[in-house]
Amino acid sequence: MPVIYAKAPGKIILFGEHAVVYGQPAIAIPVIKVSAIARVIPNPDGRPGEVRVQAPDILLDSALSDLAEDDPIAIAARLSFEAAGVKHIPAFTLHISSTIPMAAGMGSSAAISTAIIRALSNFFGLPLSADQVSAFAYQVEIIQHGTPSGIDNNVIAHQKPVFFIRDQPIEHLEIEQPTHWVIADSGEKTPTRETVSDVRNLFDTDPQNYGQILNKIGEITRNARESLIKGDLTQLGALIDENQRLLEQINVSSPILERLIIAAKNAGAVGAKLSGGGRGGNIIALSSPDKMDDIAAALLNAGAIRIITTSLNKVRR
Ligand code: PMV
Repeated sequence: MPVIYAKAPGKIILFGEHAVVYGQPAIAIPVIKVSAIARVIPNPDGRPGEVRVQAPDILLDSALSDLAEDDPIAIAARLSFEAAGVKHIPAFTLHISSTIPMAAGMGSSAAISTAIIRALSNFFGLPLSADQVSAFAYQVEIIQHGTPSGIDNNVIAHQKPVFFIRDQPIEHLEIEQPTHWVIADSGEKTPTRETVSDVRNLFDTDPQNYGQILNKIGEITRNARESLIKGDLTQLGALIDENQRLLEQINVSSPILERLIIAAKNAGAVGAKLSGGGRGGNIIALSSPDKMDDIAAALLNAGAIRIITTSLNKVRR
């Protein structure tokens, strides 16, 4: 039996993080320069049902049966077994690797789940649609992150830019003009669960004020949808900066993120904001193609630990 291989990209949120949890839209794009890979390596000499999980990046080498009940890899694997309805699981090794930075707002957990679910469903001869893969990856996200909006699993399973509103059919954006983005990792790590719960506490203490801020973020995201499709840099830059100011008001920014944002803008970025859960993780800067190197250099100089550039390209039909 051949080795089965599946890959899933990273993602980055351009607009609407946090507000998306409250029913507002968000826009996210796949980042294909980084990815998670799952390989299913059949083990013809093993006992039936003997499944080994190897993830050298996190120093994991264990029998599947020894993983904790709430281990995300174990959950993704078991969901895949259930989906395929397999009664007799052959012996195999599930090998997982990823170049997506962890806990940095780039969807590493959803990409790993997506790669596992895709590889295992292919292995069992029952390939799932992108929607089905997304739905299973979402179940893993719920166990890991509490109340995720579902944006990560959607953008990653479909590998397309999305305009996403919780519990509504997703819209894939048909990009007409390319835009170019510089992603810089602050090196600070704050779990998304923590900032989502802090925003919830703020909202519960003053729903009127914080509700209004989240609504404004939603409005920005709706306006950004068309600007992004058309590649309108001036309009996008203003919307990005405004989105950042509102994220500061819900207390998910941080001094390091703001230092990086200023560095990017001083080096010529059209707009810059934090991306994802915040208080660490990444910032994204929108750039014209000729300024990307300058912005990347300025961000490294200001303390970024990693730069990833990505372009959102015109959809080919
Ligand atoms: O930190 P990330 O990129 O995984 O994104 C978190 C985005 C939030 O809106 C803060 C939470 C969510 O579940 O959408």
